[in-house]
Amino acid sequence: MSTSSIDSLLHENRRFAPSPEFAAAAVAQPALYDDARADRHAFWADRARELHWHTPFTQTLDWSNAPFARWFADGTLNVAYNCLDRHVLAGNGDRVAFHWEGEPGDTRTLTYAELTREVKRAANMLAGLGIGQGDRVAIYLPVIPEAVIAMLAIARLGAIHSVIFGGFSAESIRARVEDADAKLVITADGGWRKGRVFPLKGAVDAGLAAAESSVEHVLVVRRGENEVEWTAGRDLWWHEQLEGVSDDHEAEAFEAENPLFILYTSGTTGKPKGILHTSGGYLTQVAFTHKNVFDLKPETDVYWCTADVGWITGHSYVVYGPLANGATQVLYEGTPDTPHPGRWWELIAKYGVTQFYTAPTAIRSCMKLGREIPQSFDLSSLRVLGSVGEPINPEAWVWYRDIIGGGTTPIVDTWWQTETGGIMISALPGITTTKPGSAQVPIPGISVDVLDDDGVHVGKEASGLLVITEPWPSMLRGIWGDPDRFVDTYWSKFAGAPKGPLYFAGDGAHLDGDGDVQLLGRVDDVMNVSGHRLSTMEIESALVSHPIVAEAAVVGASDDTTGQAVVAFVILRAKKAATVTATEASVMLRAHVAEQIGAIARPREIFVVAELPKTRSGKIMRRLLQDIAEGREIGDTTTLTDVNVVQSIRTDLG
Ligand code: PRX
Repeated sequence: MSTSSIDSLLHENRRFAPSPEFAAAAVAQPALYDDARADRHAFWADRARELHWHTPFTQTLDWSNAPFARWFADGTLNVAYNCLDRHVLAGNGDRVAFHWEGEPGDTRTLTYAELTREVKRAANMLAGLGIGQGDRVAIYLPVIPEAVIAMLAIARLGAIHSVIFGGFSAESIRARVEDADAKLVITADGGWRKGRVFPLKGAVDAGLAAAESSVEHVLVVRRGENEVEWTAGRDLWWHEQLEGVSDDHEAEAFEAENPLFILYTSGTTGKPKGILHTSGGYLTQVAFTHKNVFDLKPETDVYWCTADVGWITGHSYVVYGPLANGATQVLYEGTPDTPHPGRWWELIAKYGVTQFYTAPTAIRSCMKLGREIPQSFDLSSLRVLGSVGEPINPEAWVWYRDIIGGGTTPIVDTWWQTETGGIMISALPGITTTKPGSAQVPIPGISVDVLDDDGVHVGKEASGLLVITEPWPSMLRGIWGDPDRFVDTYWSKFAGAPKGPLYFAGDGAHLDGDGDVQLLGRVDDVMNVSGHRLSTMEIESALVSHPIVAEAAVVGASDDTTGQAVVAFVILRAKKAATVTATEASVMLRAHVAEQIGAIARPREIFVVAELPKTRSGKIMRRLLQDIAEGREIGDTTTLTDVNVVQSIRTDLG
């Protein structure tokens, strides 16, 4: 990141100390930091003991086979039991788990007792379909209660879910189902989005038709009420399968390291990585962070995280963390602006939401629409506001605090990743004096550093690469089926560190004068569009898979609303593209990328060019393309094979 962009991130110098009232009543107290500093392992063991263990663990961390960690390995537990039965047995069965709101305005409320019953029935049903410990089940659903029920039922059986975001394409489903060798797919006949039913089952059908897969059944939830194709023998209606199924199901205990889920995320190569998370350590960290970062008081709070369950935020901070803590939540199927631009704020007022967790992109979109919209709703119930997914610019941070939070609500800017499983760097409300635009401090029990390329600590008021220096409970346990890629991607950059392997996050970071961490964005070929991770390579592969494309280069160009936007430069095949205009090609290719990966990957712009700038060794100069895409003066071109290329790209653009 250039110096000018650091300056723009830093121009807000105000500090916001917690109010004495908030601090006194806060869940997180400063002793947490002292305890964690005094004995990190004992600290995490204490946090883990807040869960229910069928067999208590005696060992906290086994790091002898680093970077393959084992946490609480000789203990056994059931993740779903911790999220459900435990609360019912403690007398909280009548507490609302979810106030679900469908986009068209239909609602469903599920108490902990009801959710537990639903999950037990679903677990019996899945067991009847042959699902047991270690089996992989893919989920491709909208944000409806069945998505949560399915995840928990799979977890209850010790099986492994792989949730595929509903915006991904048939081709993405194929790749994920094949890679994980899923036995079952759970989908719906459609979901509501922007006032329309979008089809899901059709994408599953197309994905499976192309897959070499061992899928035995497709379970279909009725939601969209639209026509779906039916493969007799393979396809089953969810509601029909549940008919007459018992709600009596005893949760079996599984080892703490029993896999819980696989979640695919983009890396620097074309193929998404199946990030593997396990049970005891994961649940420990997501429950601890959810409670302390959001100051959760489960008896009175109504928490709302807007993430789709298809992303890690939905896994950790809609499903596992909040439910482990017995929280009452809002779950909303649709988009913020349907049927009107105040829908989110209306829901906050309707349910009296106390904690609200969303992405900077959404905040910036709301800023653009104007403060009058949120200000016409009563948002006074809000106590804590969270941000996740991408760096939040100070302007958006201050607007969020002032307009949504009434000028008093603490903001927690939470840095973490699919791989880290839970929040790693964040202010704690009631303790931290916050700085707009900065995630600031690792949570208690987490150690991070910022290093230069040689592995040397950069010091204060300097920038470098973010690393995590000690293993943490909710860390990924690997990449599904690819242990070498796991080691290479995350642990090889600083492999020679004296204190053992360091986890390289792929993010740049700046240490300010207080030693606080400010995130600067990715340093690799991963883009962040609306808080969603996309790989430049994956989109380039999608583009060159089209017959008219000879070569493609993709960059993430900065965008006022989405953070970054996908911009592609393509060279067309002279013969195959002879009859197509540049505009037609661009339209065709944008659609092609959406079809190959999903609408989120559709380039904002595609430029048809005659050549791409390359170094003498043949590497595409992405920096330079980024300068062009962002309309900047181009930098040093001395290593270009042909300096005229840049000129010709400019001409093509203009
Ligand atoms: O670049 C960082 C950015 O999102 C990446 C992780 O993406 P993903 O695995 O999809 O998980 C997103 C939700 C946890 C990180 O490498 N990122 C996430 N949170 C922040 C952030 N960048 C800056 N500030 C954040 N709070």
